[in-house]
Amino acid sequence: MFEVGLDFARSLDAADDLAPFRDRFVFPEPSHRPEVTYLVGNSLGLAPLAAREILIEEADKWATLGVRGHFETDRPWTPYHELLAGPMARLVGALPEEVVVMNGLTVNLHLLMVSFYRPTAERFKILIEDHAFPSDHFAVESQIRFHGLDPSEAMITIKPRDGEETLRPDDIVEAIRHHGPELALVLLPGVHYYTGQVMPMERIVDAAHDVGATAGLDLAHAVGNVELSLHDWGADFAAWCTYKYLNGGPGSTAAAFIHQRHHADANIARFNGWWGHDKTTRFEMNNEFLPIPSAEAWQISNAPIFSMAPVLASLAVFEEAGGMKPLRAKSEQLVRYMDFLLDEHLSGQVESITPRDLEQRGCQLSLKVVAPKVDGQAVFDRLQEADVECDWRYPNVIRVAAVPLYNSFEDVHRFVSILTEVLK
Ligand SMILES: Cc1ncc(COP(=O)(O)O)c(C=O)c1O
Repeated sequence: MFEVGLDFARSLDAADDLAPFRDRFVFPEPSHRPEVTYLVGNSLGLAPLAAREILIEEADKWATLGVRGHFETDRPWTPYHELLAGPMARLVGALPEEVVVMNGLTVNLHLLMVSFYRPTAERFKILIEDHAFPSDHFAVESQIRFHGLDPSEAMITIKPRDGEETLRPDDIVEAIRHHGPELALVLLPGVHYYTGQVMPMERIVDAAHDVGATAGLDLAHAVGNVELSLHDWGADFAAWCTYKYLNGGPGSTAAAFIHQRHHADANIARFNGWWGHDKTTRFEMNNEFLPIPSAEAWQISNAPIFSMAPVLASLAVFEEAGGMKPLRAKSEQLVRYMDFLLDEHLSGQVESITPRDLEQRGCQLSLKVVAPKVDGQAVFDRLQEADVECDWRYPNVIRVAAVPLYNSFEDVHRFVSILTEVLK
């Protein structure tokens, strides 16, 4: 179905309805080559042109309106976060009232664990995976300690079988069942940062609920990458950042999902602040907290406009592109094309540890250099010298992601050609 030549890559680009979106992004200018090959949207997404424009607009509003910018403009700052809820909810398969853009990812994980990790004498354990992103591991460990418990007893870490790189979906479900009566929370990623594996999210949520635990998802590598249905799956909560596939800019404001069924729970534990308080009486400045009956109740502070504005601009690009369905269709084609070229040119030299099954992966491939006597890190360094932007994850993986919004089939072709040259 695919062919190895560059002409073929160009013909795929010519037939791609989403190809024009590439021009909506700014590619970094490399030092000594005509073009950078940017395959690192899994780490930091490219800048949408519209992000710069909206930042200038907000800065101008600040300069010309001062404090009145909170109310007296067509995009006032006070309810700014509300503009993001709808488009963000569509990306994760949620109701707008279930999503709120706020804080940073790890901060949100902590705030959500305040609500959804409520250990009791019998049920006090959290199940994560052994190779969880360190920040998630630290967050879970410190939450356990915060409750006066010992992580060596309360934190369960699951790992792949010996000799395997990724977790088998059945093994995850089995582990949840096995620890069931003592489990308070299952907290797993949607897509694994190291292996690129898409986790069986719906099955994880079901299995957690079957044993009476709550289910949370870290969607840092899943949002904007794969299709999600948080509401229908019934996840209790989720959190994600916006600087990877959502192109919100370095350190941009993160987001959180809290399932609708928890919104009316008057007894839920939560750290409160004035931005979670009823909007109609917020400025009456009384001390009786009245939670907004939505995910907004979890907001603590007012919105950081300069961090949110690029996210707003970027979400508009996703909407224009038609959302995750067409993007995912292109993403699958890009990743299968990458497989094909790697098989053709680099079989026996480079192996992907990401599952090959499309259900179990998004756009990221995690490549291991297996050619005898070749150091993977040195290969990565050579790729960088050749202006291929990808990343190295300790201990021995090169991560590459062809992002459907702005990467082309020609990018994939160029990457595999350069990698082939490097390995010669
Ligand atoms: C899976 C995962 N969890 C947590 C984090 C930490 O994110 P932040 O620094 O935005 O809290 C990252 C960052 O890349 C991540 O990939």
